[in-house]
Amino acid sequence: MSLDTILIVDDEDSIRNQLRWGLAGQYEVATAGTADEARRMLRDLKPSVVTLDVTLGPAGAPPEGLALLDEIVERHPHTKVIMVTGNDSRENAIAAIRRGAVDWYAKPIELEELKVILRRALHIRDIEQAQSASAPAFRKRYHRLVGESEAMRRVFSLIQRVAPTDATVLVSGENGTGKELVAHAIHQASGRRDEPFVPINCGAIPENLLESELFGHEKGAFTDAHRTREGRFELADRGTLFLDELGELPTHLQVKLLRFLQDHLIERVGGRETTRVDARVVAATNRDLPALIAAGRFREDLFYRVSVVRVHVPALRERGDDLRLLAEYFLEFYGRHHKRRLRGFTQAALRSMMAHAWPGNVRELENRVQRAVILANDSYLRPEDLELESAGGSSEPLPTLQIARDEAEQALIVEALVRNAGNVTRAARDIDVSRPTLHDLMRKHGLDAARYRHPDLPGGEDEGDEPEGGA
Ligand SMILES: Nc1ncnc2c1ncn2[C@@H]1O[C@H](COP(=O)(O)OP(=O)(O)OP(=O)(O)O)[C@@H](O)[C@H]1O
Ligand SMILES: [Mg+2]
Repeated sequence: MSLDTILIVDDEDSIRNQLRWGLAGQYEVATAGTADEARRMLRDLKPSVVTLDVTLGPAGAPPEGLALLDEIVERHPHTKVIMVTGNDSRENAIAAIRRGAVDWYAKPIELEELKVILRRALHIRDIEQAQSASAPAFRKRYHRLVGESEAMRRVFSLIQRVAPTDATVLVSGENGTGKELVAHAIHQASGRRDEPFVPINCGAIPENLLESELFGHEKGAFTDAHRTREGRFELADRGTLFLDELGELPTHLQVKLLRFLQDHLIERVGGRETTRVDARVVAATNRDLPALIAAGRFREDLFYRVSVVRVHVPALRERGDDLRLLAEYFLEFYGRHHKRRLRGFTQAALRSMMAHAWPGNVRELENRVQRAVILANDSYLRPEDLELESAGGSSEPLPTLQIARDEAEQALIVEALVRNAGNVTRAARDIDVSRPTLHDLMRKHGLDAARYRHPDLPGGEDEGDEPEGGA
């Protein structure tokens, strides 16, 4: 075992020398006479403990000790600071402890006393290390959601505000963005946290079973109903019911759900009585519900009922440095889980992660890091371990799906306008949308039909020859 490094910061030569000799053998001892020298040594030696003179600094100038203490607490949280004060400056001592020093002692120095204080500081350091090894080290999180980007902070603050109410919440977002974790956080942050959180995936249960799964059934309600069974709504009584993939809920069940949201009554399949259930509903979807409404597959009245509050979970590519934070979180988590000691990512791996578009969002990142943790040969993960292309090489980063779609949409509209010499009605017919819809899309892409009109061809604007309506 190597010795712990102790850094003595004091502007009196005699004290530095006294301690250097007094502590040698038991510790690696380094000394610094100025704040700047101390900063350099903190960086290079990463001492376990610093003894820091409050009155550090040139005579006549304001002492620098407390300011340096603040810096160490902020930048070197693993280094413990013992503040050294003058004879009777209790005030300084108390201020130092408040600002994060672990201990203090007053000059003149009693070597044996100092040794006891040093051992105590190292003991504190050991306890903190043991704790951070056994508990998730990530404080940059909200419940189980890791993140500190602006976009995620907005989500956390919305959850915090909506959780204590009983309002129905609709969580939207792309695949793998963490919608279920958001629903769970809403439950955890609410007064219902000690009651059940009951998830059900509307898309994963065959339609003929879904109704009894949700609402329960009476004995004899159908051939296999040998006994009465409670549904998920009842199981979630006083707790939270999480309806995942709400867009997949069949229309006849949408009616029953709507009824529940209005009066909190449910009726089991084959039952004649209604039961009152106090379940809070949180629903999630990655589908565009307004589009499903337009297609006649989702009830508009239900949509307004469930989306009293909407929490949109941003895509991973919209979260800036959270990508790195999450990658490190998964590395640590799976490193521990699979008992593999990994130190981090190579610079190339970080670059390739930044360049990747993450269509599968956090779930994709989690899967790639976990696989890399299991398979990597080195203690630093490389792009190959993550099965990502090296960025900066030949491969351009992929565009996001949204950007690719927008570009394809724009190209198609331009093509239709060119072919029809700027005649919007005919262009709309060619690509099978209504005229108003095409006008909307042209506005979205900043396209002007006039640019595509050709003096020699029939074309031009053509108002009013088609009824206005949706696509
Ligand atoms: N902010 C986050 N911090 C930590 N883990 C996360 C975070 N977001 C998502 N995850 C993890 O990513 C995975 C996917 O999350 P989740 O299942 O909540 O996403 P989802 O949006 O419901 O996905 P889907 O649309 O496919 O149902 C889970 O393993 C989850 O633990
Ligand atoms: Mg989900």
